Amino acid sequence: MGRKKLIRFAENKDEPLMLQAEKPLYHQIKGKWNELFFQESKPLVVELACGRGEYSVGLAEKYKEKNFIGVDIKGDRMWKGCQAARDKGLTNVGFLRTMIQNIEQFFAPEELSEIWITFPDPRPKKNDARRRLTHPRFQEMYRKLVSTQNLIHLKTDNLGLFEYTLEVLQQQPIQNLRYTYDLSQSEMLHWHEGIQTRYEKIFSAKGFKINYLQYSFQKDSSDSFPAPLLSE
Ligand SMILES: C[S@@+](CC[C@H](N)C(=O)[O-])C[C@H]1O[C@@H](n2cnc3c(N)ncnc32)[C@H](O)[C@@H]1O
Repeated sequence: MGRKKLIRFAENKDEPLMLQAEKPLYHQIKGKWNELFFQESKPLVVELACGRGEYSVGLAEKYKEKNFIGVDIKGDRMWKGCQAARDKGLTNVGFLRTMIQNIEQFFAPEELSEIWITFPDPRPKKNDARRRLTHPRFQEMYRKLVSTQNLIHLKTDNLGLFEYTLEVLQQQPIQNLRYTYDLSQSEMLHWHEGIQTRYEKIFSAKGFKINYLQYSFQKDSSDSFPAPLLSE
């Protein structure tokens, strides 16, 4: 392992914005993010596959009335997010190091108001489908974790993953699905929030269009199912 990575891992151990395995709060935080981590009750927004946490930090700067948590397994990438949050003096953002498969260990049912999934690994191999962050087993977790007022966002350069996700959503109890194959030319552009992640910059520079979709889960089982597909 490189020296830089080792230094970042060591710093993460003392970094209050980073929640990871060896910290006591790691095992107590479920359902208590606002109380124990932020010490202020606000709607909780999570960025999954956050990498350096550009959305977590960028949105936290813009929306002080909400709390933001970036989730990823790569501690050295989230170290960057912690630095950025610190440089901006933000107190409404933190990072959680875990596999996303385990998020139900860290968030209680209905604890979240919004989920961003930013440029997740596309996992194109058929036998890797279960690891895609938009696979039905992840949707099932997300549905439990979000409250009645909820919004899920996906941003990806990967057309295969995007179309796979649209197919998955046809079988999910969702509503208000909106999507675009080219966010830059879309009336949904404002949802971009003026934020570009590292992967987004890399793939946009190579000429890839940015696909974006958003939806909400139906929390009332009497709502119609499956949800009609809408586009722009
Ligand atoms: C392609 S990168 C995107 C990072 C960032 N969102 C961006 O757009 O620059 C995908 C990220 O997802 C994380 N990731 C993928 N699968 C994961 C999982 N199951 N649990 C936790 N992190 C995961 C990886 O560690 C990586 O940082």
